[in-house]
Amino acid sequence: MTMTNKKETFYITTAIHYANAGPHMGHAYEGALADILARYKRNSGALTFFLSGTDEHGDKILRAAQKENTAPQLFVNNNAQKFKDLYKKLEISNDGFIRTSDSEKHWPGVIKWWKNAVKNGDIYKSIYKGAYCVGCESFITDKELINGKCPYHDKEPQIIEEENFFFKLSKYAPQIKHLIESDEINIIPKIRKKEMLIILEEGINDISCSRPERDIVWGIPVPDNSGQIIYVWTEALINYISALGYGLQDEKLVEQFWPANVQVVGKDIFRFHAIVWPAMLLSAGLPLPKTILVHGFVTSQGKKMSKSIGNVIDPEEYIDTYGTDAFRYFVAREISPFEDGDFTKEKFIETYNANLANGLGNLVSRTLKMTEQYFDGKVERRLDIDIPLQITRETLKGMETLKDYSIPYVIQQNILPNYTAQMNAYDTQSAANIIWRLVGLLDGYITDYEPFKLIKEDKDKTENILWNVLCGIHWISKMVFPILPDTAKKITDALGATIVENKPVSFQTQQLNKPLFVRIQS
Ligand code: MSP
Repeated sequence: MTMTNKKETFYITTAIHYANAGPHMGHAYEGALADILARYKRNSGALTFFLSGTDEHGDKILRAAQKENTAPQLFVNNNAQKFKDLYKKLEISNDGFIRTSDSEKHWPGVIKWWKNAVKNGDIYKSIYKGAYCVGCESFITDKELINGKCPYHDKEPQIIEEENFFFKLSKYAPQIKHLIESDEINIIPKIRKKEMLIILEEGINDISCSRPERDIVWGIPVPDNSGQIIYVWTEALINYISALGYGLQDEKLVEQFWPANVQVVGKDIFRFHAIVWPAMLLSAGLPLPKTILVHGFVTSQGKKMSKSIGNVIDPEEYIDTYGTDAFRYFVAREISPFEDGDFTKEKFIETYNANLANGLGNLVSRTLKMTEQYFDGKVERRLDIDIPLQITRETLKGMETLKDYSIPYVIQQNILPNYTAQMNAYDTQSAANIIWRLVGLLDGYITDYEPFKLIKEDKDKTENILWNVLCGIHWISKMVFPILPDTAKKITDALGATIVENKPVSFQTQQLNKPLFVRIQS
């Protein structure tokens, strides 16, 4: 009997972003964060599908289009393009981009889900009376209001009374509670899991899943029922499977990739993803996402960005001025994926100069220069000399037991396994910290061994020292690839490593045409 080895698959999604305007910092952040994880997985050999897209229906978008006197379809076409343009600029490697106004790709999945839910008895008609926040596109309870206003949009909700279809969310709540408790739906960070369990403990009501049609129909009509359109959140959540072909003739990708390995969403919308979405999947008889990664908000001067405060930071401005990799670096290293993180110009410049221009950039350029100057760019492994890692500084912290070994050994035994563990735990910030710890370690190594002096006394030993540093840089280029794809490629090209069994055996370096990161003068 022959066994076929099935390749590991990895399906990662972002939220679909509202197309009521172009993208902002939150979208750039979420896209870059998910992209780092997608690139990491793809590069480690998993067959990866990375999905993003735009959420294009609902009152918020209709109103925005009307305000600009534009037909809603044209309006969202324009905005969706802006998201695609930003993704290109940010080198987001998404495999799919789903748009909810796409009646050929998205709608059939929504209709399939709806009909199935009706068949299961999960949908019924009733009267809804309550407060609605158009910003959230969601009903809001008195308890959630702060001073009578939605905490996210700082606006008073509208009071609505209308006939809606309802989805029997309450029917699935006990099962979902169990699935979250047992981590079958793994919500990270754990503090978010606790929050969900409290909400589930308090009791869950059924939710409205349709809205009456207005003068302009902008949404997906409820099947077999004139007069109602499917509630924007209900249909938006289905994007994660419609993008794979759910409801179409060919559902091959659904079988291959669903359930998602990780769904990346912000803290304001994770309740939809941790409770409503799993209930919808249970109703459809589909498996549930394995992990929901709930990230925080990017703030500016410690506050939510808002036009009225005047603290809005445009991601494109930073990308255009300092480069895609500089922006991606900030996302990965300076913002924890599990908490809010502040984005300020001062911090951006400070960390760029310290860790990109001076740290990584300088390490690579001076190593390449020495290799070129002393060895015409060609360095080979010298098995006859083994130089232990004799540095006693900060950078060796936690690795003391490894100080008698060479750099490649330390990387294999300590750095790579730690990095892999952090990436697999979706902790991009800790993974980035590990990479920069290696940058510091190599800097310290050069300072301690002074190859620039030693070359006059002992050429062989100098070659071995550079060999160690070049190996370190080789592994940095591998580890840093998901975060800084362009820089990683430049480093790889400059090193000219010959690889045998996954490890470098010699280097034939080339000088960089330009510094990797030019210092910002402030
Ligand atoms: N369209 C809904 C999601 C539907 S998913 C089926 C939506 N869109 S959104 O454009 O408002 O937000 C998209 C994502 O961006 C969300 O995950 C949200 O949390 C995130 N962010 C919006 N502002 C943010 C910051 N300032 N910082 C980080 N991410 C934030 O909600």
